[in-house]
Amino acid sequence: MEKLLIIDDRDDIRKQLKWGLAKDYDLTLAADADEALAIFRKHRPKVVTLDLGLPPDEDGTSEGFRCLEEILRMEPATKVIVVTGNDERESALRAVRTGAYDFYRKPIELGELKVVIRRAFHIRHIEDENRRLQNFVEEKTTGIGGIVGQCPQMEQMFTTIRKVATSDVPVFVTGESGTGKELVARAVHSLSLRKNRPFIPINCGAIPENLLEPELFGHEKGAFTGAHARNQGKVEFAHSGTLFLDEIGELPASLQVKLLRFLQEKVIQRVGGREDIVVDARVVSATNVDIEKAIQEGIFREDLYYRTAFITIHLPPLRERGEDVLLLANLFLRRFSEGIHRKIKGFGPEALSMLRSYEWPGNVRELENRVQRAVLMADSPFLQPSDLGFDRKVPVSLAPLESGVSLKVARDRVERELIGTVLSEQGGNIAKASEILGVSRPTLYDLMKKHGMGG
Ligand SMILES: Nc1ncnc2c1ncn2[C@@H]1O[C@H](COP(=O)(O)OP(=O)(O)OP(=O)(O)O)[C@@H](O)[C@H]1O
Ligand SMILES: [Mg+2]
Repeated sequence: MEKLLIIDDRDDIRKQLKWGLAKDYDLTLAADADEALAIFRKHRPKVVTLDLGLPPDEDGTSEGFRCLEEILRMEPATKVIVVTGNDERESALRAVRTGAYDFYRKPIELGELKVVIRRAFHIRHIEDENRRLQNFVEEKTTGIGGIVGQCPQMEQMFTTIRKVATSDVPVFVTGESGTGKELVARAVHSLSLRKNRPFIPINCGAIPENLLEPELFGHEKGAFTGAHARNQGKVEFAHSGTLFLDEIGELPASLQVKLLRFLQEKVIQRVGGREDIVVDARVVSATNVDIEKAIQEGIFREDLYYRTAFITIHLPPLRERGEDVLLLANLFLRRFSEGIHRKIKGFGPEALSMLRSYEWPGNVRELENRVQRAVLMADSPFLQPSDLGFDRKVPVSLAPLESGVSLKVARDRVERELIGTVLSEQGGNIAKASEILGVSRPTLYDLMKKHGMGG
């Protein structure tokens, strides 16, 4: 029999409910908050009925709310049915906002209350089952290194990672911004024999050229103004481990030469030094620029490319990963709603269809940000498109699409129109527009360039 806890300070009500419910449930009864919490701790009933007016505050609700909050803290999945006096509408609503499952107004009509209780157990079972399934799905879908993905391209990528990780070959990761390149670099490291050695990331695009060289290769004391002591660089720190050269496409020409020398000869020199220092580091690089084009344009050295891109791993954009977007959305939903009292149960139908049809220019990072925002903003248990920041209608209606156009053409047009609308609404303010569109500023610039908009 299911365990049910009844909390009410009135003897006659406890008797009435005991008489009415004892044959259906494994019943425990409590007359005040402390007794109730002690029982709850021990028996963990899935459903509880709670009278809000408990001693010593029979006429108020403070003890009732304390009890409610404690129970939900101990087990957020508990279905608490709050029982209130006839004139306590406000408290009833507040209780539901606090996380109570439902409320029931006195006087108690046994038949009715039974239905409410039965339904509470029913919902609890469905939710338990859902949770079990979700955990199962998570185990099944999390590939290596916490990378979630089940679509064929991702499966193939996992295979490649497993194959190359244990050798020391250089790996080159490409993909649009936010597709998970750093995650892949870390996965390669964590499956390699170097996994217990350092993983040293350096973002070649984020550091000014004159500082990047000492950052990478270190410097001797007195090598330049301000070089008060000898300093090791990132490459040296990565000795015996993995060096992750993020945004390698941004590496200035002079440093491309020095990096090439390191890759060929496995030695470096600190800035201002003459000594050759032997470094054994596995190199993983990443870029979101079109590196082949950069080579053609003479911006990136071809010989460096061949040295760094022994194996290339391409991460597909999120919009090409099919149902993975829903797996990821659910993963982030669970991750961000953990520890939040207000229970968020999932995505509403409109939100789901938005997740499926949206283009995701900022890829997984954008999805992660939108879900995080939604978890904070949501007022209802099922997330709405507006919670995800999709509050403006995509202006396809401006001119209906002919049915013969390809998806690509339709997408391009919607993208162009939406960017145009937002930009003009924001008076051309790129920072604001990119925030609304949920993409980084560089991405917005790229999109504007692609559509021939602006300067
Ligand atoms: N397949 C995935 N499963 C789970 N989380 C992911 C996945 N892909 C990306 N993420 C998460 O998305 C965010 C962005 O990933 P990451 O930083 O690796 O992308 P990136 O390609 O390096 O982006 P950028 O080009 O902007 O540097 C991170 O928080 C990462 O944990
Ligand atoms: Mg990155």
